[in-house]
Amino acid sequence: MSLKSQVSSFKSKTDDRRLKTKIIALICFAAFALFACSSGKAKRNEFVIAESKSYEASLFRQNCAICHGQEANGKEMDGKLIPSLRYGAAAQKSEEEIYLQIKEGKLPMPSFKNQLTEEEIKRMVQFVRRDLQGKEGN
Ligand code: HEC
Repeated sequence: MSLKSQVSSFKSKTDDRRLKTKIIALICFAAFALFACSSGKAKRNEFVIAESKSYEASLFRQNCAICHGQEANGKEMDGKLIPSLRYGAAAQKSEEEIYLQIKEGKLPMPSFKNQLTEEEIKRMVQFVRRDLQGKEGN
C-alpha cells in the first residue's frame, strides 16, 4: 500500500467515525428532546390539588371540589356530567370566559361573586389555566 492510499484510508476511517459520532449525538439529542417534551407534558397535569398548600388550591377545595371533583377531573352528579377543568372544553376557554364562568356562573354552576372577592376570582382563573391546564405566561 502506498503512503497516499494509507493516508486516504486512514482519513476515510476517521471520517466514518466522525459521522458515526454525529449520528449518535443526533439520536441522543432527539431522544432527549422527546423525553423533555413528554415529561413536560406529564408534569402539567400532574399538579396534585390535594397536596398543594397554595391559597388557590384551598379555595378550590372549599368552593369547587364538591362539583368538579377533588382533582378537578370532573364527576357525575345526579346523572349530569360536571366537566373536568383540566381537559376538554375547559381547556379551550379563554381567560375571559373562565373569569365570567366563575364570577357570573352558568347554570347549574352558581355565581361566585358573593363568595369570592375580585382578587380571589382572578386567582382562581390563574389556578385553572396555569396549574390545572399548564398554560404559561399569565
Ligand atoms: C354546584 C356545582 C358547581 C360548583 C360548586 C362549581 N362548578 Fe364550575 N361548573 C359546574 C357545571 C355544571 C359546569 C358546566 C356548565 C355548563 O354546562 O356550561 C361548570 C363549568 C365550569 C367551567 C367551564 C368548564 C367547561 O368545560 O366549559 C369552569 C372553568 C368552572 N366551572 C370553574 C369552577 C370553579 C373555579 C369553581 C369554584 C370556584 C366552580 N367551577 C364551582 C358546576 C359547578
